[in-house]
Amino acid sequence: GLKKKEVNVLCLGLDNSGKTTIINQLKPSNASRCRLFPIPTMYLSGRCFIAQTQDIVPTIGFSIEKFKTSSLSFTVFDMSGQGRYRNLWEHYYKEGQAIIFVIDSGDKLRMVVAKEELDTLLNHPDIKHRRIPILFFANKMDLRDALSSVKVSQLLCLENIKDKPWHICASNAVKGEGLQEGVDWLQDQIK
Ligand code: GTP
Ligand code: MG
Repeated sequence: GLKKKEVNVLCLGLDNSGKTTIINQLKPSNASRCRLFPIPTMYLSGRCFIAQTQDIVPTIGFSIEKFKTSSLSFTVFDMSGQGRYRNLWEHYYKEGQAIIFVIDSGDKLRMVVAKEELDTLLNHPDIKHRRIPILFFANKMDLRDALSSVKVSQLLCLENIKDKPWHICASNAVKGEGLQEGVDWLQDQIK
């Protein structure tokens, strides 16, 4: 068989938006297992954490996950969205060949914070002049007062992104709805 093309994906977005839940749905087997989260020693004094991936907990630092599509082999950097870890994101921008940016569509109060983080990302020297594809998930579409993906894209001013291919999908990561459409789009951008 042909070896699949390897692609590094950065999964970014505020804490509690659903990044880890999305990545967990995309992984081949989300059966119960234990894994060791290596923590970058320069930031977190070299501790290691044992976490149960079946109960999703807030990500500490980041976690590296892998999943495959028909033509690609993705290595995902699932970054923590907590304020105190967001400064880790930029260290991985150079290696990233695609971005998944997750928004909690029910979190209207923090939509401006999500926009600020997105704008900071888009203006970063390691991202700014690259045609890197960005897949947005307007996640938690199941919440009663969730904003539509059109509304989310207006609030984040996505139409201003002219130099990068982007796409937004509404998703429910708990049920896995909307994820495949997004991943199919991402695969088409890369292959
Ligand atoms: P950090 O690691 O802290 O940055 O958060 P995260 O973006 O990885 O979020 P995580 O996947 O840990 O999900 C946060 C919470 O939102 C969990 O309780 C999830 O079960 C819940 N959640 C994720 N996706 C959805 C969704 O589509 N709908 C609903 N209702 N809840 C969701
Ligand atoms: Mg997480």
